Amino acid sequence: MFMLAVAIIFVVFLAIRNKSIVTKFSLWSALLLFLVGFAVYKSIWNNQYTDSKDFLYWQGLYKKMAIDLAATPEIKSNDQNLAVGSVTQFTLQQYPFFRSDGTDQQRVDRCQSCHAGVEDPSMTAENIIKEVDDVTVATADVPQYLSTHPKTLEKVYVLGAHPGKAAGVIQGSLAWAVSTNDSISTPDAADQAYDKDLMSRHPFATFGCTTCHYGDGRELVENNAHGYNEFWLAQLLPSKYQQAACAQCHTQYNTKTFEPSYNLHPSLLEVVQSAAGDKYKDASTLTDADVPGFLAKHPELQPVVTKAQAQLSSLSTMTKGEQLFHANACWGCHKIEGFSKGNVGPELTSEGSITTTTAIARQLWDPRYKVNGCVMPYFFSRKIVDVPVDPKDQDGPRKQMVQDAFGNLQPLSSIVPEQIADEETSDGLDFRGYIPDHSEELKVNELVTFVYSQTGLNYAQSFSARAMRLTAYDSSQPPTVPVTVGEGKILFNQSGCYACHYLGDPNHPKNGKGGIAGPNLSWEGARHSQQWLVAHYLNPQAFVPKSVMPVFPFSDSQRAALSLYDSSAIPNGGRRVSQDQDMPTAAMAKDNIAVPQVRYMTR
Ligand code: HEC
Ligand code: HEC
Ligand code: HEC
Ligand code: HEC
Ligand code: HEC
Repeated sequence: MFMLAVAIIFVVFLAIRNKSIVTKFSLWSALLLFLVGFAVYKSIWNNQYTDSKDFLYWQGLYKKMAIDLAATPEIKSNDQNLAVGSVTQFTLQQYPFFRSDGTDQQRVDRCQSCHAGVEDPSMTAENIIKEVDDVTVATADVPQYLSTHPKTLEKVYVLGAHPGKAAGVIQGSLAWAVSTNDSISTPDAADQAYDKDLMSRHPFATFGCTTCHYGDGRELVENNAHGYNEFWLAQLLPSKYQQAACAQCHTQYNTKTFEPSYNLHPSLLEVVQSAAGDKYKDASTLTDADVPGFLAKHPELQPVVTKAQAQLSSLSTMTKGEQLFHANACWGCHKIEGFSKGNVGPELTSEGSITTTTAIARQLWDPRYKVNGCVMPYFFSRKIVDVPVDPKDQDGPRKQMVQDAFGNLQPLSSIVPEQIADEETSDGLDFRGYIPDHSEELKVNELVTFVYSQTGLNYAQSFSARAMRLTAYDSSQPPTVPVTVGEGKILFNQSGCYACHYLGDPNHPKNGKGGIAGPNLSWEGARHSQQWLVAHYLNPQAFVPKSVMPVFPFSDSQRAALSLYDSSAIPNGGRRVSQDQDMPTAAMAKDNIAVPQVRYMTR
């Protein structure tokens, strides 16, 4: 800086002293040009790198506060010896990153270089407020206070003790990370005990920070460390998708069925043993078979066990996300290795490591944002339609209706639109004439969590276990069900057939619902016999070589029930044609039914 100032003064001096007007002019303009260039460069540089305070600032601030807050002279002298200026880092041997070329990369987390107070129980929000603003705020008023003091809030975020490391931190409870309920906003004593237990099982020295939070552990500049760099791939995981991170290590596969589960407590035995603690001598030698007898002998343990199971039972958001992935036939269109083989849409096996939560959420709200005409249904948004005036309609013109993915009409007023934070998604939806349905938001969160958790790796599973699961994928054995049209209907609803097929009343096929990737099934009963349908379920590709219709793992009786249901769709006056004949066009024309255009997707 000093040399620069000397150089500038020298140039100014020359410019003033020089006699030649030409030299004078060029000197002045060179100087001006340099200053403008310098200002532009500074402003870009600023935005990129020094927009935030660096780790030296936070360490200094932490040291100052820690000395002030030290409870004992020993702690105080420890705090006085805190080093400021060195990077704090953990090298995590157990949890490397895997790259697409098969190599792995050491995980190094330096988050604590700025987040210096995470392990210090004296860094409660109240204490930080006292230090920064010199006011005393009651615990209950902390959230209110911080909502009006953003600068103090920032300091609490960076230097506050981690939930589970102290009582009274402002941050949300960890409890909801495994709860069905997203609204635990004021953690109570039970939540705090839970947080403490959870954090004691994941010590920072072993787990670092990025295993649960993501972000770019090696970075020391705020935006980069939080993953808001040009790739946006490692950005901090928003709380609502937290379980995607937990699932990397807490997904287990049943050794017989290879079904995944997200149980945090795999066995009742463990719950019982931890509830029993040291007080019950016979607890440590129990086996699975002894558990019921043991609980009968010690009924006083039952409530503790029940509570522990409820709190730690499973990663519920993940579980629901997976169920939705099945129920909406996402699996029929998307491949996830070991889960599904669909190939209409892109493979999602490593979706979590190649895209962002925002992009997945956007795809779910607005499937056509990238590819107009994409066959993925609008499951969670409603199309706004103007229903033409029907002279026979008693209610008069039915304008401004909404239509769901499956064609059902409702008045627009019946939908509370979801406020989408991402402007591009809102605008895109608006442009295509859709509104996002607020009542579906939770489902979208669950699906995003599930899809984002698919990173193609699982720390809880050995490679051989994974290989076994992949080869065993086809061997599922669904339960047998009684053969009735009703059963078939339930199967049809639950198997996601609607994602690809439209199905309506054969006489009023416009009153139906369903997707467009496969043919309209409203007249299926008139088109094909039950035997044909069963054969088709067994192997659609034998009929249409490149058919994208998945082979569903149905049992014989389930296939029979479904074919019975499908074949019940016969228009009035129509007749069943022999199995290999095509659409009963003449019969339908007679009944004044529009002959559907069979246009479906093949690979
Ligand atoms: C250069 C300093 C710095 C580093 C390094 C850093 N952070 Fe932060 N962090 C901050 C600041 C400043 C805030 C407060 C931001 C605000 O007020 O919105 C913050 C906020 C947070 C928050 C809470 C707010 C939010 O946006 O959810 C989390 C979680 C977090 N950081 C995690 C991490 C993790 C994980 C790492 C390591 C990969 C990390 N940070 C590295 C400075 C840093
Ligand atoms: C076992 C998983 C786990 C580990 C490891 C972990 N965290 Fe957290 N952290 C959480 C959860 C869960 C929350 C609660 C999120 C919420 O309620 O919004 C949280 C909350 C936070 C918050 C408050 C953010 C907010 O929005 O309320 C910060 C800051 C934070 N963690 C930083 C860190 C840092 C820095 C590390 C490493 C030293 C770390 N965490 C390690 C799971 C973890
Ligand atoms: C990087 C891997 C990893 C991540 C991420 C992770 N855990 Fe764990 N978790 C473990 C390991 C390993 C243990 C076993 C530790 C022990 O036995 O003390 C464990 C133990 C637990 C336990 C106790 C289970 C028992 O049977 O005693 C719970 C509950 C738990 N984790 C919940 C979570 C939640 C909730 C998250 C997400 C916020 C999470 N974990 C994230 C690896 C992980
Ligand atoms: C009828 C077939 C079909 C169904 C059912 C379907 N999708 Fe898709 N999906 C597609 C197609 C085709 C694309 C590619 C479109 C594009 O890139 O715009 C796609 C794209 C995606 C993407 C973006 C992938 C990427 O990397 O670009 C995600 C994520 C996704 N789908 C998730 C889901 C989920 C979750 C469900 C279930 C709720 C689902 N899909 C149901 C056909 C389907
Ligand atoms: C991923 C999309 C997809 C899903 C999910 C799907 N199908 Fe299909 N289906 C197709 C396509 C494409 C065809 C046309 C090619 C063919 O015949 O295989 C088809 C054909 C059919 C046919 C024969 C239609 C005809 O007359 O040629 C029937 C019947 C059928 N599907 C029933 C079902 C049922 C029942 C389900 C749910 C259990 C289902 N499909 C799920 C895509 C799908």
